[in-house]
Amino acid sequence: MRLKDKVAIVTGGAHGIGRAISEIFAEEGAAVFIADLDANAGEALAAELRHKGHEATLLRADVSAATDVTQVVERAAQKNGRIDVLCNNAAYIGQWHNSVEATEEEWQKCLSVTLLGTQYFTKEVLQYMVRQKQGSIINISSIQGMVGGRNSAAYTTVKSGLLGFTRSVDYDFGPDNIRVNAICPGAITTRISPQPGTELYQRQISKTFLGRVGKPREVAQAALFLASDESSYITGAVLPVDGGWTAM
Ligand SMILES: NC(=O)c1ccc[n+]([C@@H]2O[C@H](COP(=O)([O-])OP(=O)(O)OC[C@H]3O[C@@H](n4cnc5c(N)ncnc54)[C@H](O)[C@@H]3O)[C@@H](O)[C@H]2O)c1
Repeated sequence: MRLKDKVAIVTGGAHGIGRAISEIFAEEGAAVFIADLDANAGEALAAELRHKGHEATLLRADVSAATDVTQVVERAAQKNGRIDVLCNNAAYIGQWHNSVEATEEEWQKCLSVTLLGTQYFTKEVLQYMVRQKQGSIINISSIQGMVGGRNSAAYTTVKSGLLGFTRSVDYDFGPDNIRVNAICPGAITTRISPQPGTELYQRQISKTFLGRVGKPREVAQAALFLASDESSYITGAVLPVDGGWTAM
């Protein structure tokens, strides 16, 4: 039970990578608050986890709405006055275009969901973490925060921005014993992934040393390590979970 008695918030925790993180945090003893736009999927997951004897609550929220974020953090803190772990996982992944083709809407969504959503949640939980002199914040970036990606000017920009944000918050709040780290997933199988056999799927595999795509659970295991006290001297780190993509 590596997160026993900890209170954890996972944004975008109803599907894909966020779902795997919600599951592993709950299995390891945390009281998990799933903040997601998709209330049906989030509630189904929370009910499934509770059925298995874990502690999980769905709080419907749009991370780009500051008032939603405040309500989620206040509700989670009602558990025992603490927020121990925040995983900023939600992102806007609806449209991908190059700089010429990207619409104003695509840019605004990427900025407001992926970057500002992370800022809103971080600002709210820091009030608690600074007071308790302890906390772990994990930002889910992407290998596209580290290397270029095709046809994704806005997405790549905000995922790079998350790395700067991670280091900045880490610098300011390290003295308060708050650790802030980023995970950069490579090609991970979720509902947004290309199907096996397609050109994009083959290209993704060819970019890895391991010759395969990853599973959400493989990202969740890295998040668990960064959330737990086992990573007590790790902060400001950027951890690729990418089968070697960024080392090639
Ligand atoms: N799947 C990959 O290959 C991959 C690779 C690199 C990085 N990532 C990153 O991992 C994270 C999760 O991606 P995924 O593949 O699991 O996607 P997904 O679409 O399966 O899950 C995203 C979740 O975020 C929620 N969400 C979206 N917008 C939201 C909002 N405004 N407010 C609250 N919740 C919102 C969705 O409802 C969903 O539950 C994202 O940050 C993504 O950029 C994924």
